[in-house]
This record gives sequence, structure tokens and C-alpha cells, in this order.
Amino acid sequence: MTYKTIIEPFRIKMVEPIRMTTEKERLQYLKKAKFNPFLLKAKDVIIDLLTDSGTSAMSSAQWAGIMQGDESYAGARSWEKMEHTIQDLTGYKYVLPTHQGRAAERILYGYIGGKDKTFISNTHFDTTRANIEFSGAEAIDCLTEVGRDPAINHPFKGNLDIPTLVEIIKQKGVKNIAAVILTVTNNSGGGQPVSMKNAKEVSDLCKKHGILFILDACRIAENAYFIKQREKGYKDKTYKQIAQEMFSLADGCTMSAKKDAIVNMGGFLALNDKKLSQECTNLLIITEGFTTYGGLSGRDMEALSIGLEEVFDADYLHYRIVSTTYLGNKLQEMGVPVMIPIGGHAVYIDAKAFYNHIPVKQYPGQALVCDLYLKGGIRSVEIGSVMFGKYDENGSLIPAPMDLVRLAIPRRVYTQSHIDYAIEVFERLVKEKSKAKGIKITKEPKFLRHFTAHFQLID
Ligand code: F0G
Repeated sequence: MTYKTIIEPFRIKMVEPIRMTTEKERLQYLKKAKFNPFLLKAKDVIIDLLTDSGTSAMSSAQWAGIMQGDESYAGARSWEKMEHTIQDLTGYKYVLPTHQGRAAERILYGYIGGKDKTFISNTHFDTTRANIEFSGAEAIDCLTEVGRDPAINHPFKGNLDIPTLVEIIKQKGVKNIAAVILTVTNNSGGGQPVSMKNAKEVSDLCKKHGILFILDACRIAENAYFIKQREKGYKDKTYKQIAQEMFSLADGCTMSAKKDAIVNMGGFLALNDKKLSQECTNLLIITEGFTTYGGLSGRDMEALSIGLEEVFDADYLHYRIVSTTYLGNKLQEMGVPVMIPIGGHAVYIDAKAFYNHIPVKQYPGQALVCDLYLKGGIRSVEIGSVMFGKYDENGSLIPAPMDLVRLAIPRRVYTQSHIDYAIEVFERLVKEKSKAKGIKITKEPKFLRHFTAHFQLID
């Protein structure tokens, strides 16, 4: 007999207090933060769904590992363990430890990028795009049409569109394609998974043309869960076997360990090509650190190795995905338009549809993010025209294809009652949505503007 209620498959051994705040206080905090939740103080947030990155709770085994960290400058035992764990999981020969995902991206894409180069991805995450564009290269998103529609139900909305990929390769010329990057799961496209079939097709095409194929593997365990549940031929494989198969299709990966390695800081680059890995190692030493620690301390490497094993635990992964779906389903039941099916690490709200009285130029996603904080002390993030919008030559906004708000769920941190509280806050937002106001940008930097931009409510 199996029961309907999915319990958290862990007991809580250590707690961190949450400070309660009033709506009046939160209005002051929000004004001080220029209506940008990235500028809020964490102590003023009740439930922090800003990101699932680096916000996970580590296990007792990981904390025990921290005490065993070998802090030797070179050749540390903790490095051997990390290198072995990653080689075993990915099958890649060369592992470069970095302080987080974007450092791996900067090293690899900085080296293979540059003027006249093109990168193609299902969707480049913002740091990936920024690193590519900063090198002078171009980043083209190539998501299937179903992936771009929040309301269509499809098992693999993270898939890369193969006919468009073929077309872009033809148009740009093989020698100008620096790499094809498959982001699993597709964070900026709703946390949606990529099928093994799609990864195979990308792999075959890249092999045929001799193009480098890289996985952005931040959430590959969550992606493996969806493959096992949804794709024919995988139901009897373990999650780790599925991830291993996907790694075997590519030439290497970047990974922010702050996601599916369940650590608060860490990342790596792993490659099969000796020459490329040597070039990247030279860059690693200049900016990250020596080859056997990169940007990490020995204790970080211990925790990362343990987390990378724990994440493939079947009970954990089942709870992880089902609890995210629980939030998504409840929101959907009360009429909040969410991206379906519900993704792995987050629920994405279609803010353009929810606040359909706010024009895209007035950033409905940012308006919703502010309302959520104001009314419930919940911090979330806009993934839409604030994050990805551009301006044309007349200074008019070219909006992002979707205006989403992401409620990212930290791993093993919040219980069901925290989530039920968030659901209650949404009940109020639904009732009061016609009163929501648009927002304008008053100050913005050139790159990654969502982090530090200032906003104002439009009266
Ligand atoms: N790739 C993807 C798909 C990501 O989601 C992230 C980070 C990165 C790369 C960069 O990794 O932060 O360790 O440098 N995503 C975080 C988020 C920031 O909130 O989704 P990093």
C-alpha cells in the first residue's frame, strides 16, 4: 500500500530561525531595495524562493565530510575524491574544479568563443549568455516551439529544435560554431527536461560536423527523473545510469554544483579532449587556483562529492520532484497560469497571462515578484523581459519571448507547511490581481541588469 502524502525523506537535525515581518515593514524594505528583490536583505525575507542555487541544506554525511576536508594546496585527498566521483559519473577524463558554474563557463567559452563565433543552445542561462557575449561571440537560443508556450503540456519541453539547429549550422558555417550547449533541465525555459532522444540527435549532428557538444549539467539528476518517468526504455534504469548515458553523448560539461550536487558553493568543468582541457587548465590557474582545488577548499570538495552521490537517491529525487509539482498543481487549481507540466526545481508562473492588464513594457513579472514579497514576504525572481529584454536602436524594449516568475525550491530546506503558506499568499494575489501596478526601470547596468537594476511602480 502506498500513501498519497509524500513526506520529506529526512529528519531535521539543525534549524535556522525565520524572522516574521509585517506588510508595512516589507513595503519599507522593498522601497529601500528599489523594488528589486535581489537588493533585499535575506533577514527580511520569510520564504526565500529566489533560487535553488547554493541554498540547499546539506546532509549529516556532508557535514561530516566537511570535517575531513584535506586543505593541502596540491594533490589533496579531497580533490582525489572529487575527481574520482566526477569521472565515475560523467565518464570525462579531465576535471577542472571551479568556485561555481559561471567560472567554468567563463574559462571554456572565453577560450573557444570570440568574435564571429556562434553558440547554439536549447536556452542559454543568463550567465552562460553573458560569458559568451562578453567574449564577443553570439549566443542563439533554439528551443522547440512547444517549449516556448507555457500552456502546452508536453513531456520534454526543454528539447532543442533539431531542424532549426541544422539550419543555423548551415547558415553560419560549421567552422564558426563554437559549441552546442544542452542545458538540462532548461532553467530559463521553465525547468523543463530534455529527452535522451533529443540529446542523441544533438550528439549525432555534432559528431557528424565535428562540433563540440557541451552539457550544462546543473540539474542533470532532476532531468534523469523525468526521463525515467516519461521516456520509453528508461523505467528500469537507475537515475545515475540515465545521467551517465546523457553525459556519454557529449564531449564535456560545465556544472554549477550549487544545484544538483547539493552544496552551497562549487562547480566544475569536465572535458574529454586533452588539448582543450590543457588550454582551459592554464586559464584555471590564472583566475581560479591550482588544478587540484580550482576555486574550492578541501572541505567544499568533500561535500560536493557526497552531494553528487546523494542527489541520485530514488527517495530523494521522488520527493524533490513531487513536492515541486504539489505547489504547481495547487496554484493551477486556483487559476494561476503556470508553465505546464511543472518543472523540476521550480514553479514558473506566466506573469504576462496572470497580470494581463499590465503591458509587457511595464514588466508584469517584476510587478508580480514585488507583490509576492509585499504580501507574503516571499522572494522570487523574474525570468522575462527584465532578465532577457533588449532595446532596439530607438530605445524601445524588445521583450523576452516569455515573462515568467520563478518560485525556485531550495533542496531539503522548506517543509510542506512553508509551501502551504505560499499557496495561501497566492490565494490573496488572485483576489487582488486587478489592483496590481506596472513597473519601470530607473537605473540599469549593461550586463545582467536584473541583479542590480532599480525600479519604480507606475501609478
Ligand atoms: N547554468 C544554469 C542552467 C544555471 O541555472 C546557473 C545558475 C548557471 C549555469 C551558473 O551557475 O550560479 O554556479 O555560477 N543558476 C542560478 C539560478 C543562479 O538561480 O538559477 P553559478
